[in-house]
Amino acid sequence: WKNVSDVGIDAIALSVPRGYVDLAELAEARGVPPSKYLHGLGTRQMAIAAPDEDPVTLAVNAARRLFERSGASPAEIGLCIVGTETAVDHSKPVAAFVHGLLGLPSACRMFEAKHACFGGTAGLLSAVDWIASGSARGRAALVVCTDIARYPLRSAGEPTQGAGAVALLVREKPRLLSLEVGQTGTFARDVHDFWRPLHHKEALVDGHYSVQCYLDALEGAYDAWRRLDGATDEPLVRTCYHVPYGKMARKAHRHRRMLDGATEQAADASFGVEVEPSLDLPSRIGNVYTGSLYLALASLLNTQARELAGRRIGLFSYGSGCCAEFFAGRTAPEAAALVDRLDIDGPLRDSRQMTVADYERLRAEDAAADRRTAPESARPRGKANECDRAVYLGVD
Ligand code: HMG
Repeated sequence: WKNVSDVGIDAIALSVPRGYVDLAELAEARGVPPSKYLHGLGTRQMAIAAPDEDPVTLAVNAARRLFERSGASPAEIGLCIVGTETAVDHSKPVAAFVHGLLGLPSACRMFEAKHACFGGTAGLLSAVDWIASGSARGRAALVVCTDIARYPLRSAGEPTQGAGAVALLVREKPRLLSLEVGQTGTFARDVHDFWRPLHHKEALVDGHYSVQCYLDALEGAYDAWRRLDGATDEPLVRTCYHVPYGKMARKAHRHRRMLDGATEQAADASFGVEVEPSLDLPSRIGNVYTGSLYLALASLLNTQARELAGRRIGLFSYGSGCCAEFFAGRTAPEAAALVDRLDIDGPLRDSRQMTVADYERLRAEDAAADRRTAPESARPRGKANECDRAVYLGVD
């Protein structure tokens, strides 16, 4: 075995549902000024998954596209991790479906990682450590983040929904982003900011508290990262954040830059250059939970890979509950050429706007199907849309 130091993200591919809702139209339907969703939350569209677009389908489509576009072969994969918080089974991992449908080798470790939106990062960093340790013996890892973000209709969380999958190929000598192995700042704390009890399809959330938990976790993780040897020797020219909605990334960036000693005005002034290019895809797809940070990274590379060649980028991942990690990477010199081949935002060209009425019909049909098929023991207890610790504990 030999240790490997140059490890990271070699290729990225997305898949999104066929339909999306325009948030100006949703605002009108909800009697809210469109400026609240467009500017107050920084959202434009949210992808809506149809019944045949479940987390497995989204994951497999993203992974297929990853292999087709990157030129890599499924035969190279020795580790397959799926990060998701919308699993389809309590026991069988989504990774098993992905493994089967993609024809990955039988000599392949596979599992699902769950920790709210942090599950994708848990998968990525495990894959990086597996390769860096030498255990991979030249093989690559497939990490897929797949989720459907759902809140109750007419709730404050509704405009922050979304759906989609991001597939990452992780290997030695990566062609997109080399990660700084072992150099991560971590923060964890047991909080009830956002959760989804078994059998609930819609998340329960203490919205404003979740924003505070995110910022506290950012502070903890960033502080831990800054203390690492050499972490701050070279500036980060861009930073990608977990993006539940665009405004959250703006708040995060302001908070982080003020920890660096910047004034609020200077922190906000740097947002346009350092963060905004990473928000295009998130604003067109919405929150994709585990994949959200990697959607931001995909967005950044899609627009700026050429000018970022050799430059250092910060990454911040947050998962409610909560766990957060801050880390950094360097854009590979050949990233721009590969990005042209990957056609990262290609899947969005096939998506079509749906009316608010169609979206509501989809949700009503889904709820009706669940009522018909769910056994009594699997029906949610308590009201799905109340933010109540009793619901978390499963107490009627
Ligand atoms: P809310 O109560 O609807 O919004 O909930 P608000 O009243 O706080 O307004 C939001 C912003 O819009 C405010 O700006 C208003 O001033 C502004 P801010 O103070 O934040 O800068 N505003 C307007 N702007 C322009 N024109 C107007 C107007 N009106 C108001 N007319 C909330 C917002 C995010 C709480 C809600 O959408 C929610 O609960 N979302 C779901 C939870 C969430 O996304 N939390 C984020 C942090 S936790 C996280 O990221 C983890 C997560 O991804 C899950 C996981 O880890 O698995 C969610």
